[in-house]
Amino acid sequence: MSVTILGIESSCDDTAAAIIRDGEVQSNIVAGQEVHKLYGGVVPEVASRAHQANIVPVIEIALQKAGVSKEEIDAVAFTRGPGLIGSLIVGVSFAKAFALSRNIPLIEVNHLQAHILAHFAEAPKPSFPFLCLTVSGGHTQIVLVKNHLDMEILGKTIDDAAGEAFDKTGKLLGLDYPAGPLIDRLAQQGTPRFEFPEPQIPGLNFSFSGLKTSILYFLKKELESNPNFIQENLADISASVQDRIVSILIKKLQKAAEMTGIKEIAIAGGVSANSGLREALEIIGKKLGWNTYIPRFEYCTDNAAMIALTGYYKFLNNEFASQDVAPVARWDI
Ligand code: KG4
Ligand code: ZN
Repeated sequence: MSVTILGIESSCDDTAAAIIRDGEVQSNIVAGQEVHKLYGGVVPEVASRAHQANIVPVIEIALQKAGVSKEEIDAVAFTRGPGLIGSLIVGVSFAKAFALSRNIPLIEVNHLQAHILAHFAEAPKPSFPFLCLTVSGGHTQIVLVKNHLDMEILGKTIDDAAGEAFDKTGKLLGLDYPAGPLIDRLAQQGTPRFEFPEPQIPGLNFSFSGLKTSILYFLKKELESNPNFIQENLADISASVQDRIVSILIKKLQKAAEMTGIKEIAIAGGVSANSGLREALEIIGKKLGWNTYIPRFEYCTDNAAMIALTGYYKFLNNEFASQDVAPVARWDI
């Protein structure tokens, strides 16, 4: 039997819809929200309103691009959490209404589990068990993936996420939100000649708040003697910050690989689009004999193909949600 799933993602500031047929991506549409640049970060109320405006056209385009009619959809998978409640509510409400009107099942999806399963959108796919470093704007964790639906968090950040470290540094440097991709681009023209301290956190947990404070003090001190310090050194500062964030991530990933003996290593989430992280993973992977898995850009940042794919595995496992399901801001995988 062929299974066609509509996936809906609205956990933060991207409204996304995708169609998956038998585990194969047919369409993957994302509408971003430029409006948040005005405020230097995502404004929840503004995000929620933009989702309301975007969700119907995004789903229509996803259906059209896949060449699939509403009547051919067998189930609706939606992001239940974690995320911003006002944003999640839009996707959850639409999913429920769509499922009810067509009398088809609903599938709730954990956004972080979906980021990891984005690796199954196309080859090469990791084999189980594998380790996945999930790095996004809201989360940073190392996950032991035992199978599609059985995952265990081995370590996570105790304060800021890696994406937040990029975005907050960007704010200090006067860059637009989200600053991750901008710092990445600037870093490619710079030299990492400034040293920022490495946090000493035991085990497989991370911390990025100290890095943000040390960058703040460093900039304050340099700006006292040279008010143009940031403009004159933007590429080198970006390269130095990126270098430190990447080294913190790679070091813990190496530790997790040593502790578990696993050599199947993946990265996921928005920060896995970072060129420095991608390159560092490939280098260490070659050195230590790992098989490394880095998703294509469209599957790194928030998208609905990963939600529909997770929905597909849950569909095969008969895991369905009821009509009284509500969004959740926090939800561990
Ligand atoms: O997974 P994602 O799209 O949304 C969340 O679930 O948070 O991740 C967004 C985060 C933002 O913090 C953004 O700055 C960061 O991913 N990001 C990057 C890059 N592209 C996106 N960070 C560093 N380098 C990039 N190329
Ligand atoms: Zn995400």
